[in-house]
Amino acid sequence: MTQKADYSLKNKRSFGIIIPIVFLILLALFIISLPRWTMVLTVILGFLVANALLGIILGPRMHRAKRNACLAISGSLHINGGATVLDLGSGPGVLTIHLAKAGFRATGVDIDEKALVQARKNAQREDVNVEFRLGDGSSLKWPDSSFEAVTSLNLLHETRDPQAVFIDSCRVLKPGGTLAMADLRRGLATFSIFWLGLFKFLSRKALRDMLHRADFQEIHISKPTMFHHLITARKKSA
Ligand SMILES: C[S@@+](CC[C@H](N)C(=O)[O-])C[C@H]1O[C@@H](n2cnc3c(N)ncnc32)[C@H](O)[C@@H]1O
Repeated sequence: MTQKADYSLKNKRSFGIIIPIVFLILLALFIISLPRWTMVLTVILGFLVANALLGIILGPRMHRAKRNACLAISGSLHINGGATVLDLGSGPGVLTIHLAKAGFRATGVDIDEKALVQARKNAQREDVNVEFRLGDGSSLKWPDSSFEAVTSLNLLHETRDPQAVFIDSCRVLKPGGTLAMADLRRGLATFSIFWLGLFKFLSRKALRDMLHRADFQEIHISKPTMFHHLITARKKSA
C-alpha cells in the first residue's frame, strides 16, 4: 500500500477549532444568563455563528487554494525547464515538490529543522529529486546571482523581516531573474479562518514599497485565489 504525502505543519494551531469551542461556551453562558444578558450575547453569538459557518465553508477551500497558488507561481516563472529555483520557507515542501515536478531544479529552504524532515519524507514518497536545506530566508548562504527564480508560499506573513527576505532574494537572483511569491492577504475569507491574525498579512502597498526598496522592477500583484496575493517581480538585468 502506498503512503500519502503529509503536507500539514503539525505544530501549527488552527483558529478553526477555537471558533466552535468559543461558540459552545458562549451558548452555555447565554442559556445560564437569560434574560439579563440576552441582547449582548445574541449579538456576539450571531457574529460567531456567521463566522463559524464561513470558516466551515471556506476552510476546506484553503487546501485547493494552496494548490492553485502553486500553479500560479510556477506559471508565472517564464523560465525554461531545468532552471534553478530557490523556494523560501518551504515547510513540508508543497511548492518545492510542485516546482520539481514541473521540471525545475528546485531547492527548498526552511528555518525549522522539523519542517525539513517532513519535506524530505514527502519528496521521497512522491519520488521527486529535491534538496531541502536549513536556512534563514533573510540571510541566505548562497553567493550573489545563484538562481534563475526565487519563490515562496505563505512565508511572508510568518517571517520577522520580510524586507530582508526581499533584499536577499534579489541578491541571490541572477540579473533578469524572477521573484514569484504567494502569501495570504486580508479579506473576508482569511478573516473567517484566522480572525485578527489576518493583521499579520501584508497589504499591497507595504509589499510594493518593500519590493521597490529591494530594487526589484516590473512589480505585479494579483489575486490568484480568494486567500492569496501573488507577487511577481524581476531583478534588473546587468
Ligand atoms: C506557513 S508555513 C508555509 C510552508 C510552505 N511554504 C507551505 O505553503 O506549505 C511558513 C514556513 O516558513 C518558515 N519560515 C519562517 N520564517 C522563515 C525564515 N526567516 N526563513 C526561512 N523559513 C522561514 C516556517 O518555519 C514555516 O515552515
